[in-house]
Order: sequence, then C-alpha cells, then structure tokens
Amino acid sequence: MKRQTVTAATVSPSRAVPPHIVCPEYAHTAVPAPYKLSCIKVKVDQIGRMRKACRFAREVLDLVLAAVRPGVTTDELDQIAHQHIIALGAYPSPLNYMGFPKSICTSVNEVVVHGIPDNRRLVEGDIINCDVTVYAHGMHGDCSETIFVGEVDALAKKLVQVTWECLLRAIDVVRPGNKLNAIGLAVEAHARQNGFSIVREFSGHGIGENFHMAPYVAHFYEPDNTTQIVEGMTFTIEPMINVGTAECVIWPDKWTAVTADLRRSAQFEHTLLVTADGVEILTGGREPWFLRQDNRNP
Ligand code: MF3
Ligand code: CO
Ligand code: CO
Repeated sequence: MKRQTVTAATVSPSRAVPPHIVCPEYAHTAVPAPYKLSCIKVKVDQIGRMRKACRFAREVLDLVLAAVRPGVTTDELDQIAHQHIIALGAYPSPLNYMGFPKSICTSVNEVVVHGIPDNRRLVEGDIINCDVTVYAHGMHGDCSETIFVGEVDALAKKLVQVTWECLLRAIDVVRPGNKLNAIGLAVEAHARQNGFSIVREFSGHGIGENFHMAPYVAHFYEPDNTTQIVEGMTFTIEPMINVGTAECVIWPDKWTAVTADLRRSAQFEHTLLVTADGVEILTGGREPWFLRQDNRNP
C-alpha cells in the first residue's frame, strides 16, 4: 500500500504550566533573547546545571519514545512529555518559543523538523522524530531521535541508520583544535556517500542559558567557517538527512517543514560539551531506540 502523506490535523490547546515552574524569558512573550552572534559563551560554573538539564531531556525523550506505537497520536506523546517535564520541576522549552504551540516537536515521515503534535495517529511503517528540549536549573538541554513505528521499509531503515551514523561521525571530530566546519564535512561526506541529501536551512546551535545561541553549527561543509572549537563550548549537532531532495517547504502553520518532494527525512540530535581533549555527550544514553527495536515493535 502506498504511504499517505502527512497533512495538517487538529492541534489541541497549549498545555498549562503551573506557577511554581521557573520559565525561560520567552514563555509569556514568545520572544527569545537576541541570538548573540558575536559571543560564544564558554561554560564554566554552568556545566553542572547543564548536565542536569540534559539528563532531564534524555529521560523525557526515552519516556516519549517508549510510547511510540501504531495508533498513538502525536498529541498523546506531547502530553506524556509535558506531564513528565512538569513533574521534574522543569519547563518544556518549545512551548511558546516564537509562538510554538506545543511542548515537543514530532516530525513524521516527510516532515523534516518542527512538526506540531496533533491528533494524527501513527501508523505501521511510519518513521517519527521526537525532539525534546527542557529548561531546568536555568539551562536548556536538547535531544532527538528518529524511531520506527512497527515494521518499516528497507529504505527508511537505511535512512535512519545513515542519519545516526552522520551524528556519530560528526561527534567524533568535536575536540579543541578542530574547526567547527569539520562537523559539516563529516556529515556531508557520509550522507553523500550513501546517496542522501543534507538539509541546509536548519542547523545545530549553541545552547545553555538560551535555547538557541552562537555558535551556528552547519551540517554541510562550509570552507569559511573556521571558528575554533574550544573547551567549555556547549552546542547541538542535529543533522537532517533526506532520501531525495534537500529542499524544504514550510506549511502555512509557519513551523512544519516538509521535504519538497515528500520523500522521507530523518534526524538525530545531541547536546555536547567540549572537554579538554574531546567531547562529553550531555544527552547521551544507551544505544538509540531504532537499534533496540530489532523489528519487534508491537
Ligand atoms: N528542539 C529544536 C531544535 O533542535 C527546536 C524546536 S523550536 C520549536 O533546535 F519552537 F519548534 F520548538
Ligand atoms: Co536543537
Ligand atoms: Co531539538
């Protein structure tokens, strides 16, 4: 049976945040603090708090991924995440970030990024990226994984596997002394070798006391981006890899980005801390879920 394309469905009202939760600066205004291109903040005293925020994000992402199965709606996944984030005493960073209406992003099949949870039910054969960011202890932690809904076709499996490998290869080059453009070089080489394309309009980003801050982290090779990677930087790497064209189209909701040819897209994301001799994966866990699914998803 031919796969149906994803269409806009019904979005439930934004979920409430109780008054005891400490909110980021945009929670009531929708306007984030200006992205400070000029200054890449190196974390020293914030590292402990960053570790906690990232550990929370990982815990919530695992809970969401455990709930993925045919028949579940993406709104139900949002509900699970929202409830648990509040229970942790944290704030779901996407909520009202530039007006985003929900607490996580759920991007199914040809949705590249920023899918809004709604009442669409997952169906066997879908792939879905769940992207969780939490604000806790004054810091943001951001991670995402793509997983299978039941049994998926061979090309979808290859796409998800290669996208995961792109993230691993990129993380491998993160160490002081290397340049930021080594990341895009690693992602681009591996994606191209496998016949896939790399989305250019969304990037990795510095993260910490703000959700998105300098540095900008491209997932394709940028010869001129010779910024040095230095100890104490915290940023994400989050390659979006497509089966077909790299081009994206944004839906009228101004958030949902889909591939222009409606072929599939996958993504993985970690928040990283640059250490003296390498990298600490702040949102790391066990192996990714798709590798554990082993074709046994109920
Ligand atoms: N978590 C996404 C990222 O990786 C950003 C989502 S912003 C939102 O950067 F507003 F769409 F939630
Ligand atoms: Co991110
Ligand atoms: Co994210």
